[in-house]
Amino acid sequence: MDFAVRRYLPSDETAWLRCRALGFLDTTYFDAVERTKPVIPAPGIELVATGQDGEVIGVIDVAVEGDEATIETIAVHPDHRSRGIASALLEEVLAYLRTQNVATLDAWGREDPSALRWYRSSGFAEGEHYLHVYADYDADAAEPDRAIGERRPGLRPVRAFLHAKIEDEAVMREQFARVHVCRRFVQDVNS
Ligand SMILES: CC(C)(COP(=O)(O)OP(=O)(O)OC[C@H]1O[C@@H](n2cnc3c(N)ncnc32)[C@H](O)[C@@H]1OP(=O)(O)O)[C@@H](O)C(=O)NCCC(=O)NCCS
Repeated sequence: MDFAVRRYLPSDETAWLRCRALGFLDTTYFDAVERTKPVIPAPGIELVATGQDGEVIGVIDVAVEGDEATIETIAVHPDHRSRGIASALLEEVLAYLRTQNVATLDAWGREDPSALRWYRSSGFAEGEHYLHVYADYDADAAEPDRAIGERRPGLRPVRAFLHAKIEDEAVMREQFARVHVCRRFVQDVNS
């Protein structure tokens, strides 16, 4: 194993942001860019994987509320995938969650094949689904108007991000170019 897993430190912030941005670049989350690291309050956990030169090559953030935990971010640098980095991060998270009496760990993902495969092979079961819908003037000038009925005078919508019910998937796909199925993955921490 030529990587190490350790706690995130405030001095990692720039490296963390870059790893996340590159990790998401080849996925449907390519435009979900953060410019400051989201805060994970205690008793949540933030881990990084580092390479041989100490560079950050994988990140995981997990929020904890009562006996439920949620993966807020998981990303491995594209040059370092399929080496067990995400699995090592998850293993350490699960060990920590057991000490906190957490019962379930969940995560939300879209249809990115590498992520779907990884969640399924890492003990997560797929649960509820809903839709992420983008209404974008550049895709079709009529999309924002289809999404937003009543306009505030003086403001013209150009781009909007919306949630919709999975039952409306066919209609949404007819009317909007960018629609993602957002799915919950969940596993029992103590199994
Ligand atoms: C999903 C993601 C985090 C997985 O990271 P990863 O470090 O490549 O994951 P792992 O290496 O632990 O596992 C990936 C695969 O490599 C295999 N693998 C693990 N160690 C290996 C090794 N030493 N040699 C060869 N293959 C290995 C695993 O069996 C796994 O196969 P599978 O996907 O068919 O089950 C990564 O693809 C990623 O960052 N994707 C983009 C960001 C993203 O989509 N995040 C989730 C948003 S919801």
